[in-house]
Parts: sequence; C-alpha cells; structure tokens
Amino acid sequence: MRNGRLLERSALATTTALVAMLAITACKHEPPVAPEPGDDDGGGGNEQPCDPNVVYFQQQILPLLAAYCTDAGCHNAADQADDINLTTYEGVTDPGVVRPFELDRKLYRAITDNDPDDRMPLGRPPLTQEQIFLIRDWILQGALNNSCVEAGCDTLNVTYSGTIAPIIQQRCQGCHSGSTPQAGLNLTSWSVLNALATDGRLVEVVNHAPQAIPMPPTGPKLPACNIRQIELWVAAGAPNN
Ligand code: HEC
Repeated sequence: MRNGRLLERSALATTTALVAMLAITACKHEPPVAPEPGDDDGGGGNEQPCDPNVVYFQQQILPLLAAYCTDAGCHNAADQADDINLTTYEGVTDPGVVRPFELDRKLYRAITDNDPDDRMPLGRPPLTQEQIFLIRDWILQGALNNSCVEAGCDTLNVTYSGTIAPIIQQRCQGCHSGSTPQAGLNLTSWSVLNALATDGRLVEVVNHAPQAIPMPPTGPKLPACNIRQIELWVAAGAPNN
C-alpha cells in the first residue's frame, strides 16, 4: 500500500511533466465550432436492446475513456488537463475534442498519433486497435449520447481469457499497466489479478465495498453482470483458463 502510493506519486509526477510538455508542444487550441442546428444527442435515456453494429456511448465509450484518460493529472473532472474533461458526454463532445462524423479532432488524433511523446494515453501503452476502432466507429456513427440494455448475462461459461481479461482490459488497464501502474498493480498479468482475487480485494473494489477503494475510481461502476462474472471466477479459484 505504502509502496503503491509512492509509485502513484512518481507516476503522477511523470504524467504532470508530460502533460505540461504536451500543453506547450502538441496541443493546438482550436476555435470553438458552433453546433449545427438540429444536432441530436440521441437521447441518453432511451433504453433499447444493444445492437452489435452500434457503438454505445454510455456502455462502451464513457467507460473506456474513464479507464484510459482520467488518471491523476489527466482528463478527469478535477484536473481537466488541457481543459479537456472526458468524464461527461458534454466534455467528450466539446467541438475541439470530438465532432460527429469527423476524425480530424483532438481525441482521435491523440489516440492515433505515431509519436509516443504525443500519443494518448501519455506514458502508457497505446490503445489497442480494437479500442481505437470502437472510438472511430462511435464518431463515424454520429458521436451520439446513446445507451442500450444488454440482453442477458453469461454466468455459465466464465473463463479468465474469454470473460475476465477483456473486462479488466477495458475497465482497469488504463491505470494498471505499463511501467508505472497505479498502486504498483499491473493488471495485464494473471498472477497479479489472481493474488487480488485470493486476498479478497478484487471483489471488494469492484463492488465498492465500504472498506475498499472503489474501482474504477472514475466513470460508471462495472455492470452488475460483469461483477457477477468476476465473483464467479474468484469463487472458482481465479483459474488461468
Ligand atoms: C483512472 C485510473 C484507475 C482505473 C481505471 C482503475 N484503477 Fe485501480 N487504482 C487506481 C489508483 C490511483 C489506486 C491507488 C488508490 C490509493 O492507494 O488511494 C488504485 C488501486 C487499486 C487497488 C488497490 C486497492 C487497495 O486497497 O490497496 C486495486 C485492487 C485496484 N486498484 C483494482 C482496480 C480494478 C480491478 C480496476 C478495474 C475494474 C481498476 N482498479 C481501475 C487507479 C485506477
């Protein structure tokens, strides 16, 4: 824990330095673009069954951004590095950051930048091709504030590789990977996750148990289905299957 805090502090220092550099060297502040009349945010309250061909802001994009872009000193509500807040739809769709149907804006440029000194997330491994395509498709589908309801929850075929690792990748590895992972926990490793499963912390943090530090710390809580799947995997001994 103490060790974790130390690592966290050094990660913060690195991030702050990099963010400062970036603010000077990389970010062009573009004039705001007025929204076009008739712009529709898609109605975040309209709950429809999830269509596999549609990318949903509430279920897919917001949690991804929370996991990869809102670490200490970055684009969370308190720090708002480069005046960018990626914890709300309004912040994400600030016209300089994301414009519907346009890829030449800050967010997409930053995650696809070839220069590791400019590419986001700073000081962490780049987003996977799959994560980048998800964000691209969401923008090209109109960057709506859309939401859907998952049809069912597969609690029968829960495996590390098929179920747990993808959840951890989407929701945790933005802060818990690379050379300076938060709390010293690199969650790309099965053995690290297995140890957290065994000492009880994994189930506690994702459930936001009163004695635990809630994880992920920003963005929505994991969906109930994913929490159930993690609990079942832990109960089975957190195997590497
Ligand atoms: C936005 C960054 C971020 C994300 C995303 C994130 N964490 Fe964390 N995590 C942290 C930070 C920062 C700490 C250290 C907190 C502290 O010590 O106060 C931490 C600490 C932890 C700890 C140690 C808690 C303890 O009591 O020692 C565990 C376990 C953990 N995270 C698991 C997860 C899991 C599982 C996920 C995904 C469901 C996740 N984290 C997502 C930033 C993050």
